Amino acid sequence: MTKPLRMLGIAGSLRRDSFNRAALRAATQLVAEGATIDIFELDGLPGFNEDQERNPPAKVVELKRRIREADAILFVTPEYNYSIPGVLKNAIDWASRPYGDSAWNGKPAAIMGASVGAIGTARAQYHLRQMMVFLNMFPINQPEVMIGNASTRFDAQGNLTDDTTKKLISQLLKNLVEWTHRLG
Ligand SMILES: Cc1cc2nc3c(=O)[nH]c(=O)nc-3n(C[C@H](O)[C@H](O)[C@H](O)COP(=O)(O)O)c2cc1C
Repeated sequence: MTKPLRMLGIAGSLRRDSFNRAALRAATQLVAEGATIDIFELDGLPGFNEDQERNPPAKVVELKRRIREADAILFVTPEYNYSIPGVLKNAIDWASRPYGDSAWNGKPAAIMGASVGAIGTARAQYHLRQMMVFLNMFPINQPEVMIGNASTRFDAQGNLTDDTTKKLISQLLKNLVEWTHRLG
């Protein structure tokens, strides 16, 4: 039997009622047998300071450890001003440093995102994909999970209620599992 895959899920929002954190919680329930998703919360991560990159704060040490322990990464990003939020970029920057010691290197990944707008984080997701070229990460291409009009797809408790979105997330996670096995 193959070993269960461990995915690390990171949502780029600190907001208590965040749609993206809610979508990540939904993903932990939708992941197929043979894989699990642990969540890393970004709250409390200090702003990146290159002076500290060789002796980073404890939360950064934990982030890099959790990334390295994971077989694959699931990013769930909001779109802020047509890009990813600063808190997510900040986490990406910390874990990519110091030069030559990036925790992201070689990791398979999947991207999804939720927005209250109609475009559903497309622009932010393509910025994130661009970053993955330099990070040497391997994001899967499809399905693209862009959850537009997010306020209509979750209930008041933050449960994902939209069946089409649930199916898309399930497919994304299935593809990520296959992709991760393929990359070995
Ligand atoms: C600073 C800021 C910039 C935003 N820019 C965009 C944007 O460019 N495109 C978009 O679709 N929504 C934008 N929004 C709206 C977000 O989609 C919305 O706040 C969403 O709920 C954020 O994700 P969250 O619910 O996970 O916190 C912006 C929100 C904020 C606070």
